[in-house]
Amino acid sequence: QATLRGSPSSSSRLLRRGFSSESTPDRKVAVLGAAGGIGQPLALLMKLNPFVSKLALYDIAGTPGVAADVSHINTRSEVAGYMGEEQLGKALEGSDVVIIPAGVPRKPGMTRDDLFNINAGIVKSLCTAIAKYCPNALVNMISNPVNSTVPIAAEIFKKAGTYDEKKLFGVTTLDVVRAKTFYAGKANVPVMEVNVPVVGGHAGITILPLFSQASPKANNLSDEDIKALTKRTQDGGTEVVEAKAGKGSATLSMAYAGAIFADACLKGLNGVPDVVECSFVQSSITELPFFASKVRLGKNGVEEVLGLGPLSDFEKQGLESLKPELKSSIEKGIMFANQS
Ligand code: NAD
Ligand code: LMR
Repeated sequence: QATLRGSPSSSSRLLRRGFSSESTPDRKVAVLGAAGGIGQPLALLMKLNPFVSKLALYDIAGTPGVAADVSHINTRSEVAGYMGEEQLGKALEGSDVVIIPAGVPRKPGMTRDDLFNINAGIVKSLCTAIAKYCPNALVNMISNPVNSTVPIAAEIFKKAGTYDEKKLFGVTTLDVVRAKTFYAGKANVPVMEVNVPVVGGHAGITILPLFSQASPKANNLSDEDIKALTKRTQDGGTEVVEAKAGKGSATLSMAYAGAIFADACLKGLNGVPDVVECSFVQSSITELPFFASKVRLGKNGVEEVLGLGPLSDFEKQGLESLKPELKSSIEKGIMFANQS
C-alpha cells in the first residue's frame, strides 16, 4: 500500500496512489526529440509518472523552454533540458529508459517508408550516442518507419558491441490503443475493459490486430465488422495525418501510448510481476527477425516474447500477407546501418 510523506494535495495523492517513494528506486528517463509534437506531451506525461526520478529532455532546439515549463509541475522527478549534439551525452548518461520520438512526421499522401531517408540518419546518430553513454538503457523507438528504425538501432548497437535484444523495443502501443477504442465503439463494451493484441509491425497491412482474441467477447460482430475494424486500425495513422491536413501525424494519442509503454518498461525494471505489452522486438515466433507481439517485461527488459495464440482464418491470411512487406522493411534498415 502507498506510504505517503506529509499531507500531499489531492492531485499529488492521485498521482502517487499505490506507490511508495521510500521503496521506489531512482529511475532516469530521457526523451530524444522532446520539443516536438509527440515529445512535449510525452515529457508532460513522464513528469506525471511517479517511477521517474530524473527526466532529461533532449532536442536539437527548443528544450530549455519545454524543460522550464514542465519542471514547475510538483511531481517527483527533477527535469533538465539539453539542446544540441554537444549536450546529448549529458542527457543520456545514467538513463534507464530512452524514448525516441525524434524525426520528421508524415504529410498526406506519404507512407511511413517515405520518412526513411531523413529519419534513418537521425536514429543512427542517436543510437550511436546511446551505445556510448547509456548502453544498458531500455530503448523505446517511436520514430518512423518503426519497421526499419528498430533494425537500424539493433545494427548500430551490434557494431558498438552493446546490443542486447532484450532492451530494444519498437513502440506499437498506439496500434493497441486504437484497436481497443475502435473495438469498444463497435462492440458497445466499456472501453477501459477492452484488451486486443496487435501483432506484426507498425505500417499499413503489417499492423495486424487479433480481434478473435479481444476481450470482453462480443457476439454482435460480423466478419464484415471485423474486416472493417482491422482496416481502420491499420489506417489509423493515415486517418490522423489526413485530418491534420499537412500539420503532421498523431502526437497526443502517441504521447499517451508512449507513456503507457514507458511506464510498463519502468514497472518491469522495478520488478512488478506480469507486465505484458505488445511491442516490435527481436523475435523467433515467425521466420522474421523482428516482429511485434505480446512481450512480458522484467528487470532486464524483455523477459519473454509470447506466442501469437490461436488465429482466425482471416488473421492467418493477414499474417501471411504482411510478411513480405515487413521482411523488406527490416532488410532495408539492416542494409542502411551496414552501408553508411
Ligand atoms: P515533430 O516534427 O513534431 O517533432 C520531431 C522532433 O524531433 C522535433 O522537435 C525535432 O527538432 C526533433 N529532432 C529532429 N532531429 C533530431 C535529432 N537529431 N535529435 C533530437 N531531436 C531531433 O514530429 P512528431 O509528430 O513528434 O513525430 C516524431 C516521429 O514519431 C515521426 O517520425 C513520426 O512518424 C513518429 N510517430 C510514430 C508513431 C508510432 O506509433 N510509433 C506515432 C506517431 C508518430
Ligand atoms: C501513427 O500510427 O499514427 C504513426 O505511425 C504516425 C503516422 O505516420 O501514421
